[in-house]
Amino acid sequence: MKRFENKVVIITGGAQGIGKSASTKFSSEGATVIIWDVNDQKGNQLVEELTAKGSIAKYFKIDVTSLESVQAAAKSVIDLFGKIDVLINNAGITRDSSLMKMTAEQWKEVIDVNLTGVFNCTKTVAAFMIDAKKGKIINTSSIVGLYGNFGQTNYVATKSGLIGMTKVWARELGRKGINVNAVAPGFIATEMVDTIPETFFNGIKERTPLGKLGSPEDIANAYLFLASDEAAFINGAVLSVDGGLVQ
Ligand SMILES: NC(=O)c1ccc[n+]([C@@H]2O[C@H](COP(=O)([O-])OP(=O)(O)OC[C@H]3O[C@@H](n4cnc5c(N)ncnc54)[C@H](O)[C@@H]3O)[C@@H](O)[C@H]2O)c1
Repeated sequence: MKRFENKVVIITGGAQGIGKSASTKFSSEGATVIIWDVNDQKGNQLVEELTAKGSIAKYFKIDVTSLESVQAAAKSVIDLFGKIDVLINNAGITRDSSLMKMTAEQWKEVIDVNLTGVFNCTKTVAAFMIDAKKGKIINTSSIVGLYGNFGQTNYVATKSGLIGMTKVWARELGRKGINVNAVAPGFIATEMVDTIPETFFNGIKERTPLGKLGSPEDIANAYLFLASDEAAFINGAVLSVDGGLVQ
């Protein structure tokens, strides 16, 4: 029996980058994978690939900023599969700018997706997990949420905020049988970081004791571990997956 057989796993932002890698890995471990994303083309294509391999996977066009859409999608998942075992709050965006140049729109867009989106998904899905008296919730923070980063006031506010939310929910939901943890990735080669100059990455590699950037699979593996039975006593933790990068 595969590790996640009979488990229903929702992955927000599951169509691309780290989320795609997670969708693929959970799927190969036997999970029913539910992708909540706004990218129809990539979401549908990935579901086609996964189902062609014999997995159960479903794509929902969900903008996590809309509580109504999230609630409707969660209800559909329950109607179709009867339960939600794992929620991975992986969707996230950047709108980088230094403080003095950052517009109110850039601030709000990132807060809406990265913080309010996680609030919407967690509040909705936790209600079903509380009824089931079990569940695993994983929030995707970032190394910059721990150390800060030039030009990312909005993004860092959300990624630090997620660490606080993880710790609150570990207390509130832990007593209901639900584990809530965060993963703090270092710099991972995905489309999100496409706009960052290569010289920056060379500096990052130099400061990383393992001497390389991480891959989406490295982060997906951390999700897999925290969602597994082996992580049953881990709650409120922030797992850095950054090659030991020293800021
Ligand atoms: N790539 C990195 O270096 C890095 C480092 C630290 C943390 N992270 C975090 O990891 C997560 C995944 O990052 P990634 O690099 O794979 O990004 P990515 O941009 O490659 O993928 C993000 C996915 O989220 C989806 N998405 C965006 N807005 C959405 C919305 N409103 N509703 C639903 N889905 C939405 C996108 O369509 C996309 O499929 C993010 O939370 C990011 O902040 C990434």
